[in-house]
Amino acid sequence: MGRVLELLKVSALLLAVGGDVAWARPKGELWAVLVAGSSSWMNYRHQADVCHAYQILHQHGVPDDHIIVMMEDDIAYNPENPDPGVIINRPDGPNVYEGVPRDYVGSSVTPENFLRVLSGDAEGLRGVGSGKVVRSGPNDRIFVNLVDHGGPGIFAFPRSLLKATDLADAVLAMHRDRKFGEMVLYVEACESGSMFSNLLPDDIGVYAVSASSPNQPSYACYMDEHLNTFLGDVFSIKWMEDTDREDIRRESLKKQFQIVRKEVTSSTVMQWGEIRLDRQHLSQFLGGKKVASGGRRRQRGNDFCLNTATPSYDVPVAVLESRIRSSSNPQKTETLKQQLEGLRQNRTFVSAVMASLVVHVTDSDLDMVDKVMHNSHGITRWSCYSAALDAFDKGCFRLAENPYALRVLQPIVNLCEHGYTAEQFARAVQAVCTHDPVRGME
Ligand SMILES: *[C@@H]1O[C@H](CO)[C@@H](O)[C@H](O)[C@H]1NC(C)=O
Repeated sequence: MGRVLELLKVSALLLAVGGDVAWARPKGELWAVLVAGSSSWMNYRHQADVCHAYQILHQHGVPDDHIIVMMEDDIAYNPENPDPGVIINRPDGPNVYEGVPRDYVGSSVTPENFLRVLSGDAEGLRGVGSGKVVRSGPNDRIFVNLVDHGGPGIFAFPRSLLKATDLADAVLAMHRDRKFGEMVLYVEACESGSMFSNLLPDDIGVYAVSASSPNQPSYACYMDEHLNTFLGDVFSIKWMEDTDREDIRRESLKKQFQIVRKEVTSSTVMQWGEIRLDRQHLSQFLGGKKVASGGRRRQRGNDFCLNTATPSYDVPVAVLESRIRSSSNPQKTETLKQQLEGLRQNRTFVSAVMASLVVHVTDSDLDMVDKVMHNSHGITRWSCYSAALDAFDKGCFRLAENPYALRVLQPIVNLCEHGYTAEQFARAVQAVCTHDPVRGME
């Protein structure tokens, strides 16, 4: 009898929470975490994007103690910067570096610290950076913006990788522990859709937008011949220039998604998780203070961002080519040409290593080699992929230091999806990757 009563109580409870009660939340606070996961002048654009995102939140009244910024911080005073202390996110744009909090810089920009910041683990960050973390409760909203290089199921940090499963685990645990009401993530990275595909439930109050599908690169834009680097990334530029232009207390997440999806013609912008969150106004996640529209008109026809859009992985090539074009010193031109040649050779080497690994794992089954090298499976066998990836990262190319190696990971996904094991892959790594440790495979 007691058992029946208990069940009745449980079903009454289920009925009570089943209604629209969840929407009648009291107003909570807004928190933001902004992360640029790369370093070096070549990757100027990632930190420029994140600094711009900070300016948006700041202008819309979000106080610095509710915004946490993680970035290497090696751009503003980089020896290559002709304007020390200045970072711009579009040609002739304003200095977006001004006032950006240096919460976590240099070696403290790690995936572990990011997850600690996000989940409010102040203890775990004692003595690290500013120590600021998201101290959110069940009614709060969290905005997360991640910008960097990526690959299937991974988002790169300057020295190591964030795996999609670790991000999902952290977000699920936060939901379980009622650490937020709603969370919105905007992610710019190659294969950024793979950070959420099959990993983000549609009923935990989390809505994510990725710059690209699970198997597309994201694109850099605004090549600057004077600075010799790209100033932004297409998806980031499009959502932020839209935000700067519009009254975000009136524009919904949904409207922005539609605009950005249409304007970003280089990759497919995608949305994930609990889509109905998109009915809310952008101000819920970017700050509610009214700002005089400082944005420029939407560009029609001649869109300099799109005109210079370049797949993220081709940025080092494009920058070298531009330098060669503008060089008037024959000796310097020769050096640059040699660099470009070296870069191409490095890429060929990385691809050849992956091909040998696949031949080794499949025991030279040529039909299989062909499939594994060319198809693009989604990731379902996470534990195999994760372990094989670690073996590759440790034994062949440290992925955080060799961004080009991120471009050749799909065959590892495919091997796992075809039933090969991480142990088989690890044995191939031992046999094939006998070269000395390398870095700088751009
Ligand atoms: C090619 O790789 C080597 C490491 O083997 C690295 O030192 C070098 O900078 C790379 N060259 C280019 C042009 O990226």
